Amino acid sequence: RTVYVNGDYLPEDEAKISIFDRAFLMADGVYEVTSVLGGKLIDFDGHLKRLERSLNELEIKKPAAFDDLIEIHRKLVELNGIDEGLVYLQVTRGAPGDRDFAFPDPETTEPTLVLFTQAKPGLADSPAAKTGIKVISIDDIRWGRRDIKTVQLLYPSMGKMMAKKAGADDAWMVEDGFVTEGTSNNAYIVKDGVIITRNLGTDILHGITRAAVLRFAREAQMKVEERPFTIDEVKAADEAFFTSASAFVMPVVAMDGETIGDGVPGPVSLRLREIYLEESR
Ligand code: PDD
Repeated sequence: RTVYVNGDYLPEDEAKISIFDRAFLMADGVYEVTSVLGGKLIDFDGHLKRLERSLNELEIKKPAAFDDLIEIHRKLVELNGIDEGLVYLQVTRGAPGDRDFAFPDPETTEPTLVLFTQAKPGLADSPAAKTGIKVISIDDIRWGRRDIKTVQLLYPSMGKMMAKKAGADDAWMVEDGFVTEGTSNNAYIVKDGVIITRNLGTDILHGITRAAVLRFAREAQMKVEERPFTIDEVKAADEAFFTSASAFVMPVVAMDGETIGDGVPGPVSLRLREIYLEESR
């Protein structure tokens, strides 16, 4: 694979980052994941805008090549022959020459910019989307600024492992009795034809796929309610699903071992998946 590091396109085993990089020592960095279908970047503008916001919120300087990011994405997709897959991008506060909690001087420490591709043949035609997936509920013990897409992903990783141990595929996180989001996706239920998903705030990531799917749902005259919902509401829902750049719209058919609706992907979830794939390609 050819990867990108601070201005250079390199074979992955020649790419190097300092051991003092702030992301390595302190998770001091932000990232984006953009999907690729038919060699084309999906929702790229949204991902770029969110990246800019994450950087601003953390006062991380824009990397030198910021204005070239679409070109870098396209070039990596081409160099690696990606038809279906993902482009991962990470910006960190950079690598001062030592470990220190205080931020380094942005005049002297440049941010680190890394991108790589992941080939995922069959991404759009995923078998999981046909059967639906199972989730468990876990406490949301993450920090309070989940609207910033940081590389602080230990708890989401642990959540996926808890799900695996429980014989499920993923976990939805719960705070004060309400679902916040999935470990790496936004969560939804459908009840009596209404699509319900948590309203935006600092407690969830503002999903780029979420924004697109809600727009398409409203355009198709579907009813949308943006409000928190409980695990009991999930279990009593007609359908459930999640959205993310890496899974698009994914039906969820069980929560904590209890079947949701008929235990198969519901019509609203499947229709939204179809619309999303059609409209964004
Ligand atoms: N995850 N919520 C969380 C916590 C996420 O990590 C993600 C994305 C989303 C969905 O956002 P979007 O629709 O913009 O992908 C919601 C990416 C895919 C990842 O970590 O791989």
